[in-house]
Amino acid sequence: MIAIYPGSFDPITLGHLDIIERSSKLFEKVIVAVLSNPGKKALFSTEQRVAQIQECTQHFPNVEVDSFSGLTVEYAKLRQAGVLLRGLRVLSDFEKELQMAHTNKTLWEEIETVFLATTKEYSFLSSSVVKEIAQFGGSVHHLVTENIAKDLVNYYQLKQ
Ligand code: PNS
Repeated sequence: MIAIYPGSFDPITLGHLDIIERSSKLFEKVIVAVLSNPGKKALFSTEQRVAQIQECTQHFPNVEVDSFSGLTVEYAKLRQAGVLLRGLRVLSDFEKELQMAHTNKTLWEEIETVFLATTKEYSFLSSSVVKEIAQFGGSVHHLVTENIAKDLVNYYQLKQ
């Protein structure tokens, strides 16, 4: 079974990587799919995010990184994937995620959403938290991989 792990990944965090690593043991193949959304202002371009994720997932042989635009279920159909993967951190994630899973089911009856509970050490972690800390010069080495930490430092230095 092929699983799609869709998201913004702006940038990918250790919490996301934890989900990728654990799901790679559960599914034949996991496709990390970066949503390219021109309507949503991202810090890193879609191409940068794909390259960043490729760098930190290259040691997982059954993980592929790609980007898509439009509906996630259409992308899943295209890739012949039967599962959408999402991580759940805290109870407040659940409402939005359940709504999304139900919506996707109305769009394509055959798609299943599988939720993985995020490892509890990362339950506070989000891409927004990482950006907020990096923006003010704080260390994010415990939250993201080395390549992302470097990209964040470069980004905020260039902005100054
Ligand atoms: O990392 P995010 O931003 O929480 O991921 C959200 C994402 C990309 C999974 C979701 O916004 C999405 O699937 N967008 C594509 C449009 C779509 O399919 N919408 C219908 C489901 S609500």
